[in-house]
Amino acid sequence: MPIRLDRRLNAIASLVLGKKVCDVGSDHGKLVCYLVQTGRAESAIATDISAQSLRKAERLIADCGLSDLISVRVGDGLNPVECDEADTVVIAGLGGDVMAGILQRGRESGKDFEYYILSPNTHAERVRAEICNTNHTIVYDGRVEQAGKVYPLIKTMRGGKEKLDGKQLRYGKFFREDEEFKAAAVRELDKLEAMLASNPEAVNLARRAEELREALSEVVV
Ligand SMILES: C[S@@+](CC[C@H](N)C(=O)[O-])C[C@H]1O[C@@H](n2cnc3c(N)ncnc32)[C@H](O)[C@@H]1O
Repeated sequence: MPIRLDRRLNAIASLVLGKKVCDVGSDHGKLVCYLVQTGRAESAIATDISAQSLRKAERLIADCGLSDLISVRVGDGLNPVECDEADTVVIAGLGGDVMAGILQRGRESGKDFEYYILSPNTHAERVRAEICNTNHTIVYDGRVEQAGKVYPLIKTMRGGKEKLDGKQLRYGKFFREDEEFKAAAVRELDKLEAMLASNPEAVNLARRAEELREALSEVVV
């Protein structure tokens, strides 16, 4: 029986179809174990900047009997992995600024992989902006909702040059054709309008509502 993933990790796993996967910031190690157990990856590398975090992954990997197929490495971002050691790199559960920094340092040191699967907790626009600096294009740009929080979920593929306008950086490459974006934005707008009704002076809320209305006006589905 493969280990059970929560909704967010399951959505991330569903985008992986690699031979060799590196999970940066692996922490508990559940994703790499699941990927190898289910054949979505033949082998994997779990990295983390924290040796303590990685010990959790090491224990789980051993408990799953996968120590021959999954290695663990301590280090910052992409430092612990060489280009020929992974075709797919997953980075999930980190802030967008940290994630963009990892991608930028990787790019500047010549690190390049076939696919990136990225799910930042915050500031997805910084991650998308950094993707525009690479030789990757975005092939999936969606979201997964878990426990009332929405997590962006981005997959890139090597090749081409991504170019996104300001709204795409913020809401996702495909937001204008994305029914799920539309539904989520309508829900958020309803919430903002309810909050504004009881606090009409809240300038930040009013600006956020206006930006969402503008984005929604460009959605064509
Ligand atoms: C919240 S956990 C996310 C775990 C898992 N990826 C997930 O999505 O469930 C974030 C992990 O990223 C690690 N981390 C933070 N900055 C990092 C960096 N620059 N390089 C590698 N790992 C990092 C932390 O030590 C922590 O274990």
